Amino acid sequence: MTTGERIIERPFPPAAIAGSSSSLLPVHVGIIMDGNGRWAKSRHRPRLFGHRAGVRAIRPVLDAFHARGVHILTLYAFSTENWRRPDDEVRGLMRLLGETIDRETDELHANGIQIRAIGDRGRLGGKLQEKIRMAEEKTRENGGAILNVAINYGSRHEIVEAFQDAVRDGTDPLDLTEDVLASHLYTKGLPDPDLIIRTGGEYRLSNFLLWQAAYAELFVTPTLWPDFGAQDIDAALEFFAGRERRFGTTSDQVAATGKKHRA
Ligand code: FPP
Repeated sequence: MTTGERIIERPFPPAAIAGSSSSLLPVHVGIIMDGNGRWAKSRHRPRLFGHRAGVRAIRPVLDAFHARGVHILTLYAFSTENWRRPDDEVRGLMRLLGETIDRETDELHANGIQIRAIGDRGRLGGKLQEKIRMAEEKTRENGGAILNVAINYGSRHEIVEAFQDAVRDGTDPLDLTEDVLASHLYTKGLPDPDLIIRTGGEYRLSNFLLWQAAYAELFVTPTLWPDFGAQDIDAALEFFAGRERRFGTTSDQVAATGKKHRA
């Protein structure tokens, strides 16, 4: 079989992004929470002070997205590259993650939010792995919204692992399809993100959801993560509502559907 013969005809719009409550609202938003260090530095405080402020910013952001009808959020909390940071920062971030799960799980559960973690858990401490497992277990049946936290996450690693997993499951490497690969990603079962927001002003994805964000709109704001709030969320959603999503088709084809976004 040639590569060309394996290309799948995809429906327009793709099924994975159909089904939003409103066509102008993203179903799934990914957030690269950058700028904690600069926020702390501008206050002459250590980087961990910024990360603690970053944690405090999360709850109001979740609530604001939820209030606006966005029900799936993926937060980039710790990347596979973040291990290269100074030891005390890494240890502090790990401690913060554990403390945050301890402090927030019950209330998130009471609000019907399902907590999930994506990433390679094997390198995390045993206690943190257990906290993650318990938070996921407790909230597994919740249907209100999904909070997906990327911890020790790296997209390239995820894609390589997904490929290996598919092969271990019996897929002939030459028969691998996009759908089979996607079904082995950490995000299996979730729609792809429609919108990726990056705070802190840098225009890059930093190994975040590279596969899943293939058609995502990108919104970069100079606001540093601890300062990110309702105004920035409204700006991001307004930006998204104004985009014409073509998924590889032409403007004329989109116009023929009569919608700027999805059916
Ligand atoms: C990037 O800012 C931020 C991180 C590497 C960590 C993000 C983590 C949190 C907000 C806290 C933990 C999250 C949860 C879900 C409990 P940076 O340090 O690179 O900032 P800089 O670019 O200004 O230096």
